[in-house]
Amino acid sequence: MKKLIVLSAAAIAIAACCNQPKFDGPVYLNPNAPVEERVEDALSRMTMEEKVGMTTAQSKFSSRGVPRLGIPEVWHTDGPHGIRPEVLWDDWDQAGWTNDSCTAFPALINLAATWDKEMSLLYGRSIGEEARYRKKDILLGPGINICRTPLNGRNFEYMGEDPYLAGKMVVPYVKGVQENGVAACVKHYAVNNQEFQRTQSNSVVDDRTLYEIYLPAFKAAVVEGDAWAIMGSYNLYNGQFNCHNKRLLCDILKGEWGFDGVVVSDWGGCRVSEEAVKYGLDIEMGTWTNGLRGAASDSYRNYHMADPYIKGLREGRYTTEELDDKARRILRTIFRTSMRPEPNYGRFVCPEHYQAAREISAAGVVLLKNEDNVLPLNVPEGGKIVLVGENVVKKMVVGGGSSNLKTAYEVNPLEGIRNAFGDKAQIVWERGYVGDIGRSYNRVDTGQDLTDNRSPKELIASAVEAAKDADYVIFIGGLNKSAHQDNESTDRYDTFLPYAQEDVINALAEVADKFVVVNISGSPVSMPWADKADAIVQGWYGGTESGNALADVLTGKVNPSGRLPFSIPFKYEDGPIKTEAQYPGIKEEDDQYWQTHYSEGVYVGYRWYDSKDVPVQWPFGHGLSYTTFEYSNAKASKPVMKKGGTIKVSVDVTNTGDVDGAEIVQLYIADPQASIDRPAKELKGFEKVYLKAGQTAQVTFEIAEDALSWFDAEKHAWVAEPGEFQALFAASSKDVRAMASFELK
Ligand code: GLC
Repeated sequence: MKKLIVLSAAAIAIAACCNQPKFDGPVYLNPNAPVEERVEDALSRMTMEEKVGMTTAQSKFSSRGVPRLGIPEVWHTDGPHGIRPEVLWDDWDQAGWTNDSCTAFPALINLAATWDKEMSLLYGRSIGEEARYRKKDILLGPGINICRTPLNGRNFEYMGEDPYLAGKMVVPYVKGVQENGVAACVKHYAVNNQEFQRTQSNSVVDDRTLYEIYLPAFKAAVVEGDAWAIMGSYNLYNGQFNCHNKRLLCDILKGEWGFDGVVVSDWGGCRVSEEAVKYGLDIEMGTWTNGLRGAASDSYRNYHMADPYIKGLREGRYTTEELDDKARRILRTIFRTSMRPEPNYGRFVCPEHYQAAREISAAGVVLLKNEDNVLPLNVPEGGKIVLVGENVVKKMVVGGGSSNLKTAYEVNPLEGIRNAFGDKAQIVWERGYVGDIGRSYNRVDTGQDLTDNRSPKELIASAVEAAKDADYVIFIGGLNKSAHQDNESTDRYDTFLPYAQEDVINALAEVADKFVVVNISGSPVSMPWADKADAIVQGWYGGTESGNALADVLTGKVNPSGRLPFSIPFKYEDGPIKTEAQYPGIKEEDDQYWQTHYSEGVYVGYRWYDSKDVPVQWPFGHGLSYTTFEYSNAKASKPVMKKGGTIKVSVDVTNTGDVDGAEIVQLYIADPQASIDRPAKELKGFEKVYLKAGQTAQVTFEIAEDALSWFDAEKHAWVAEPGEFQALFAASSKDVRAMASFELK
């Protein structure tokens, strides 16, 4: 009791000195008392059962509060791209509310492709406002798992193949969300890089690879972004399930990184009661106990950390030490979110969010090829544009798994391009091929009937006929959110276009005057037909304003500045994954789980292609503009960088074209004298620089030893070895424009 009085006195003193209105209630209810005091005060008032209660779900997307003390329950919501519609208490299906049609923001791979930290902050603030308005406390996103294989079904939800890019892009998103008093729950921690057997596969990863490739983005989210929540992933790492993995959660996340927030399980990711208690899980969600259907009305009591936990505590098998730590973390989250000091109410489906979605999506569109500058579109008055493909019209926000959204509207490319041209040009749509006519997911329906019973031959003939007299033929195809495309719980079978789209592209190339291909996908698509097109655009799932964003780029209203967040290989086999053991993993007869061996080590994405001189179709970081840029005058601020110090490296960039534009200047570091095998170069900086036609700007990076280091697993430490280093200034991982070298002493 004494401790309690002391705490209250301190709180009152603080209140008094900051002339806050005197608060005479209990400390935990005082919004202006320091969070830690509120936590300790609340904890001291809670029973054991109440503490245990908070550690598990009470419905599909909520976990308990403490009703007796007026501490609210915690509301979790998908997803990374927008606020999922309200679902039924015990089911995935939407509940049919009429006030929860949200803004669908671009897929996170689209955000990553902007290479623009400002866009990421805008994104986080906007989606955080929508979560707050919908009274949600934990946003189950962003996802930042590295694109280790182009086949991963969830690459569209993540931020590409490079840990530095993902780390720099996730931090502003997390900050933007949390400014709204909503916890970002960064997922899926960790080494969760495939959907195949995602709940039954064990990732076998050496420490250097773990620390250099798969942890950095999570570390950035926690240490730089101050993320308040982390989601454990379904898979195992080193033989232990990640929702209660001692090494990942206790030793690294909460130990090395000092994470003070909550670890939330993926839905059904908690598998072992004893481990859940001891190895760092704080909130158990979605567990498949004896099923929620037909079980006891409150089968949530069967959760690992529900009645079994209480039983274990009463029998003395567990101490209250772990329990108090879980409860503290949950209370801290509640005092940061629903019981936060300053009331704010967010905004929902407002013009600013639609504009943000449009700007972010357009800023991530990547111009891969533009022969004879056929883009931006230059259509004579009354000219004709023929749009061919299912993705000209298919609504893409519905489906794909837990990132499924119900929106007030979604602008598809046909509508976007028609909006752009009005009656100035004739815009004709031809189906070209039939892919996936699915239209609903979890009872969210696009309202589209894409049925078309014509044969492929008829569809192509019709498209070719329409294309003959067109000024422009624009094929808009790619992938979609159906199974074995960009879709949670399944992976793709290869990196080529499905539905025989190549036949349509080849047929159109024969007759088209100016031929543009837009590939809409969330993961790398190989393009053996690339020579057939005059221009190629990598479009993304751009969300509510997707069609307008694409049109903004095609018409030149927005000068493209998107850059690839992953490498696009000529074919999957060119990549670093050569064996079944690497992907999808192997399961020996006496193995309980699949074993996925990350034996390519750090050679992921461009690290592989560049170090092994394997040509790629489109390199990591690649993207054209409607103008051109030149780099010059690369230099280091001094010839020697002292250990423990920093050094500045800079380059001049000139817009040598005749339209204003933005260049993403990429800084890669090479360590030619490394004593160990290192990738040829690694991304350690990027800056988006806007340049008017003819303008030159100097771009400077200040780097420290962490940009030069590799992870020495034996020493369990980062090592920057003395010797020469090269600062490579590049327009892509394969397009180094200038270099400055210096020595680390
Ligand atoms: C899903 C996903 C996760 C999502 C959660 C709740 O299985 O893996 O990303 O947030 O369950 O829907």
